[in-house]
Amino acid sequence: MNQPRLYASSNELQRRDAAAVLREYSPRLRWGGGEGGGRAGEDDDEGDAVLDVGCGTGEVTASLLLPALPARVRRVVGADLSPAMVRYAGAQHRDPRLLFVEADIAAPDLHRSPLAAQAGPRGFFKLFSFYCLHLVDQRMALRNMNVLLAPGGEALLAFLAKCPIFNVYESLAKYPQWRRYMTDVRKYVSPYQNCKDPVREFSTLLDEEGFIILDCCCKELNFEYLSLECLRDAVTSVNPFIERIPEGERAQFVVDIMKEIITQKLVTFVEDDMQKKITFTYSLLVAFIEKSRN
Ligand SMILES: C[S@@+](CC[C@H](N)C(=O)[O-])C[C@H]1O[C@@H](n2cnc3c(N)ncnc32)[C@H](O)[C@@H]1O
Repeated sequence: MNQPRLYASSNELQRRDAAAVLREYSPRLRWGGGEGGGRAGEDDDEGDAVLDVGCGTGEVTASLLLPALPARVRRVVGADLSPAMVRYAGAQHRDPRLLFVEADIAAPDLHRSPLAAQAGPRGFFKLFSFYCLHLVDQRMALRNMNVLLAPGGEALLAFLAKCPIFNVYESLAKYPQWRRYMTDVRKYVSPYQNCKDPVREFSTLLDEEGFIILDCCCKELNFEYLSLECLRDAVTSVNPFIERIPEGERAQFVVDIMKEIITQKLVTFVEDDMQKKITFTYSLLVAFIEKSRN
């Protein structure tokens, strides 16, 4: 996932969903300093620091998250595994309150990283993550989030529970031509893709990692692409295998992805106002959680 330009121009689905999740949950976030019914006696003179895990190109961080936060937030840190994403985000979004850093949220030594140093003496007051956690070892990521958050700090997480593109990855991993580039395909398929009850499974994990669950739900969603080209760009921009494929073969890889999408009937075509729309169905897991104060 190192294609910031392509991702920035084809991430309408991710932006739409992050905006909806923020709209729904922002009123429930608690802040100190008297805003939003905060916790008396927990004021921090320097203001609050907030973390966005898997910030990618930073559009969601800068254009959706930052404006949704109260003025007392002095710093929003966007963290991402991809150096290309972090570089792009830093160059595109220049606000003194924003900082983009490289970090692996599932790294065993994250507590010693430059990201941890940004948390302030008590930790991040809020943590957000949109469209990232289906890509990581969730137990390790939650453990690290627990370390990074201040006691009583809240986290709002949204990630893919199920998505047809994961079936495409599994099919392509069986093609003789692509097999060798996709031996670790399971790593890039959501852990809940074949799960009967993603909410229950994720809630169990949250509970085991010591979080208080304020809400956890799965949203069944649709997204309409205006053309197959738009869908192609969107799926290419988040494809984790493409960089491993020799440049001369990448176009064929993308053709095969699109063929699988069509033959597996993973999208439906709708004629509407003389326009052909392509509908894509998936489910998003949303969790609103709190770190215990003890
Ligand atoms: C689909 S993008 C989402 C970007 C942004 N949050 C948004 O909603 O537009 C997923 C991002 O997660 C990042 N990512 C994947 N694994 C990660 C990890 N272990 N730690 C931090 N970021 C990670 C990827 O590099 C990628 O930029």
